[in-house]
Amino acid sequence: MRHILNILDLSVEEIDELVATAMDIMARPDVYSNVCHNKTLATLFFEPSTRTRLSFEAAMWELGGRVLGFSEASSSSAAKGESVADTITVVSNYANIIAMRHPKEGAPLVASAHATVPIINAGDGGHNHPTQTLTDLVTIKKELGRFNNLTIGLCGDLKFGRTVHSLIAAMSRYNGIKFVLISPKELKLPAYISKDYIINKNIPFVETTTLEEGIEGLDVLYMTRVQRERFFNEEDYLRLKDRLILTQKKMESAPKGMIVMHPLPRVNEISTEIDSDPRAAYFRQAACGKFARMALIMKLLDLKVGD
Ligand code: NCD
Repeated sequence: MRHILNILDLSVEEIDELVATAMDIMARPDVYSNVCHNKTLATLFFEPSTRTRLSFEAAMWELGGRVLGFSEASSSSAAKGESVADTITVVSNYANIIAMRHPKEGAPLVASAHATVPIINAGDGGHNHPTQTLTDLVTIKKELGRFNNLTIGLCGDLKFGRTVHSLIAAMSRYNGIKFVLISPKELKLPAYISKDYIINKNIPFVETTTLEEGIEGLDVLYMTRVQRERFFNEEDYLRLKDRLILTQKKMESAPKGMIVMHPLPRVNEISTEIDSDPRAAYFRQAACGKFARMALIMKLLDLKVGD
């Protein structure tokens, strides 16, 4: 039994295999429509979500499986004071696989110590978000056709943005990668991420505080929302929230072949006028999420077409 708590729990070869499966499901969905017959996914979401939870649920339905769960901590016994350990011990009896999101960093690790079924981390605080990264990798492969030789700009809340942390860890394993880190000084990438995945691996990187300085020469511009719920005080959030906004004007200096990604939800960091620009890949990216999760569920349940 395997848990996916961090994107690095998957080898590069396994990522290739998952991306290939996700693409095959996109091309031939009918072939996969019964693979998870009689299997149940539990989605335990102690924090808000639209795409992650619904794409997990759509993924399981479309594989012919069943879904149960809760979408807010207040409707679960967590509100009565139950521990993650106890919740997971119990839910392990009701489901074959569990996707969980929690505001506390490390909660899925605790869950994995008590689970008798695979645990998938669907986002833990400001830490990791491996299935978003799998979604991002499917998107990059589909849009650009490669993982090597990419210049990737990451813009916005690099401090609290868990999607950024997982994406950097994943991309740091490929060749010819360059990172352009675009954020206010207060929202810089945590030192443990830059040390482990960039500096110690001798990956070239540039840090800037403006999009104008960072956008030229990018293959991917990965925008993120300032993570309001992780701030200690509202004043800091209000001061920082409008620093980095991608506008049509700024897109004029971006390469023609660059794609704009965003895990969503967007607040105001990408002007809606960009939505019709062919380089805006964020809604196509969200569509990839369901297929990436279908591939992952099949892998963790050790199911193949024809089983
Ligand atoms: C992200 C998350 O939850 O970390 N959303 C998502 O899963 N697509 C990004 C965010 O909330 O800003």
